[in-house]
Amino acid sequence: MTTGRGPDNGMPDVPGAFDAEAGTYDALVGANPGYHKHLQLSAARMQLPDGGRGLRLLDVGCGTGASTAALLHAAPHAEIVAVDGSAGMLAQARAKDWPKSVTFVQGRAEDLAAAGVIGPFDGILAAYLVRNLAEPDSFLQSLRTLLRPGGVVAVHEYSVRDSPAAAAIWNAVCIAIIIPAGWFRSRDTALYRYLRRSVNQFDGAAGFRGRLQRNGFVDVRTATVPGWQHNIVHTFLARSPG
Ligand SMILES: C[S@@+](CC[C@H](N)C(=O)[O-])C[C@H]1O[C@@H](n2cnc3c(N)ncnc32)[C@H](O)[C@@H]1O
Repeated sequence: MTTGRGPDNGMPDVPGAFDAEAGTYDALVGANPGYHKHLQLSAARMQLPDGGRGLRLLDVGCGTGASTAALLHAAPHAEIVAVDGSAGMLAQARAKDWPKSVTFVQGRAEDLAAAGVIGPFDGILAAYLVRNLAEPDSFLQSLRTLLRPGGVVAVHEYSVRDSPAAAAIWNAVCIAIIIPAGWFRSRDTALYRYLRRSVNQFDGAAGFRGRLQRNGFVDVRTATVPGWQHNIVHTFLARSPG
């Protein structure tokens, strides 16, 4: 079902909120040590063969293209379709240099078919997206049907519920750095306060692995990242059956 809403945590239109922050987003994430390296790590963990030659890949919630660039780095020869619901974020992405094999599409993650996103894909990356969705189960099911049998999905996402230490670090960094930095850049902290809250409310790593399994994925694994986001940012990897 398409709801057009974020999860029930006070941010009713997540892509709309990103529109307002699109112009400052790259500078903000660029100040986060490891942001781009961690996306590259998740894309590399998809183990796409032969530089992606002959493969079709999907980047859902591509934003300004940071995750798309990570996919391109892992699979420079693949065809990549990158989708986002925010026109502002997509405008930032499209303004960068891309090979012809990369296409940007505006569309909601809840209804990718309506945006003309048709499978099968050999691999799908969803970076910092799933936590924003009101109905993650139906989204995961839609990804499974977009994948070819045996295709790989990587969900790159914050998850702190399983670790009190990770949750404490996350909340401290939000209060001391992320929310004040958002204020300095855009004079509006709504999106960054939502970021803190949505991460606190999202599944624990074990819970999200279970969610992937319940929604028909197999070979479900998790790995975290190095640095201060250890046990805070994770790559959830899984395959469609077959
Ligand atoms: C935190 S940004 C991450 C962008 C990019 N994946 C990256 O790693 O830098 C989340 C993106 O998801 C998009 N998004 C959130 N909810 C969405 C939805 N329901 N449908 C489509 N895009 C959505 C936002 O517009 C935003 O660009």
